[in-house]
Amino acid sequence: MLFHTLRRAIYPGSFDPVTNGHLDIIQRGCKLFDEMIVAISTNLEKTPLFSIEERREMITEAIAQINIGSCRLLVDNFQGLLMHYAVARDAHAILRGIRAISDYEYELQMALMNRRQEPRIETVFMMPAEAYSYVSSRLVKEVYQLGGTIDGLVPASIEVRMKQKLRREKG
Ligand code: PNS
Repeated sequence: MLFHTLRRAIYPGSFDPVTNGHLDIIQRGCKLFDEMIVAISTNLEKTPLFSIEERREMITEAIAQINIGSCRLLVDNFQGLLMHYAVARDAHAILRGIRAISDYEYELQMALMNRRQEPRIETVFMMPAEAYSYVSSRLVKEVYQLGGTIDGLVPASIEVRMKQKLRREKG
């Protein structure tokens, strides 16, 4: 008799805010894994626009609007080392999106450092649709804050949140 093991992946990131590129990767990951945990963490090199709680709400709203088949999707946040979190969550893999060659070096370093910490957990890279190959949370924020359009790059619910945030920041 064959036993099917539930395959669980962690999709970690800053998600500040979640973009259509992230959602594309989530949908692709859902084809490979039975369960995915979208795990928000703090990238020590970035100053976030949205709080962890806001980002959790935004991701939860956004994933409610996409088709993920029978995949179980959870949203969580963690502090400290990703690999400690992955072990605690009994994960089989870390999922990361790679857009262009320019992402590769950073991702390779992280994947190898993570493997060194925990060799049992593999990092899996997936490519988003070409339409999102240049989309990043950083550029989305920058363009929007300077009055540009981000239509089609983030879900409508995220654009609303960005509008509210900027209005509040301008005071
Ligand atoms: O979306 P980002 O900012 O590229 O995500 C980076 C993130 C949050 C996945 C990375 O900074 C991370 O894993 N942070 C947790 C702390 C950690 O484990 N650092 C060592 C990474 S090798």
